[in-house]
Amino acid sequence: MESLISLVNRLQRACTALGDHGEESALPTLWDSLPTIAVVGGQSSGKSSVLESIVGKDFLPRGSGIVTRRPLVLQLHKIDGEREYAEFMHLPRKRFTDFALVRKEIQDETDRETGRTKQISPVPIHLSIYSPNVVNLTLIDLPGLTKVAVEGQPDSVVAEIENMVRSYIEKPNCIILAISPANQDLATSDAIKMSREVDPKGERTFGVLTKIDLMDKGTDAVDILEGKSYRLQYPWIGIVNRSQADINKNVDMIAARRREREYFANTPEYKHLAHRMGSEHLGKILSKHLEQVIKSRIPGIQSLINKTIAELEGELNRLGKPIAADAGGKLYAIVEICRIFDQIYKEHLDGVRPGGEKV
Ligand code: GDP
Ligand code: NA
Ligand code: MG
Repeated sequence: MESLISLVNRLQRACTALGDHGEESALPTLWDSLPTIAVVGGQSSGKSSVLESIVGKDFLPRGSGIVTRRPLVLQLHKIDGEREYAEFMHLPRKRFTDFALVRKEIQDETDRETGRTKQISPVPIHLSIYSPNVVNLTLIDLPGLTKVAVEGQPDSVVAEIENMVRSYIEKPNCIILAISPANQDLATSDAIKMSREVDPKGERTFGVLTKIDLMDKGTDAVDILEGKSYRLQYPWIGIVNRSQADINKNVDMIAARRREREYFANTPEYKHLAHRMGSEHLGKILSKHLEQVIKSRIPGIQSLINKTIAELEGELNRLGKPIAADAGGKLYAIVEICRIFDQIYKEHLDGVRPGGEKV
């Protein structure tokens, strides 16, 4: 069975092949209505680390204190082929293949807007990553919530960060990754406070507990991870990211993931939860969630795509036969779109089209 996300990728390619018509087609509607995923939490709770783990690449500035000072809107694009690269919106046509340089450019571009200070700016940095190993997702890294301004920041910074974060996570299509560090009391969690405010029923909030490895000896996070301390619609996910010492030693993503897996599998308290813990699991949960959302939206856009197809068929008839080269390409795209929809209905929507007709 081809995954729904990969079918939507094919759909996007086919619609792009429709050229001008692609832009007028329903696809942007589908694209815009797809979920974005934003991280919310206190400073140094591990937000940037969690996002890096989901992407499976090292490219974000991380560290103690206020590191993320502008929103980073990160679009992941799944492509064929082997080569991975990144592009910034502010540097069109420059392809980054070295992800250490991506990190440096994020830092430099942050400084260009704010100076080399601890000030923040709501102006987002847009970054796209093209890779065969990602799913089409938009992830948003945000500055951490704080309680007090530090040296070099105006007093208004606390409220500014709060408003900035809220403006992203209040959107109904935003999935919230509420990041709380396990070595602090959950009752003081900024992530929980803020996400509860915009999503009181917890319908689009995933509770993520980081720094489980840093808890005081003799304490554990079992009650939280089992949903007994604070209940959300979705199960809590525990994470062990790289420590600052790991970052300084350049421990790579693969080694870090293996260690995280071993940590949950080999700690007696967490053994029974190990199958639903860790960054890899979080990535899978999010892509499954994304599939569900796509599933619920596809019937709604089908009529729009049908309309585009009808218009194109009309145009093809008008052009007459033999079909011109570019019209042939469009015809192929239409056939491809029809095939994709057939497959979507057969494999993902229990074989029934919206009209009740069986595929
Ligand atoms: P952010 O400010 O919320 O984006 O947090 P970062 O991702 O920049 O992480 C802040 C610091 O905490 C970094 O030094 C990380 O290495 C460290 N850190 C994050 N998550 C964990 C974790 O699960 N375990 C340990 N030991 N350190 C972590
Ligand atoms: Na930080
Ligand atoms: Mg950060």
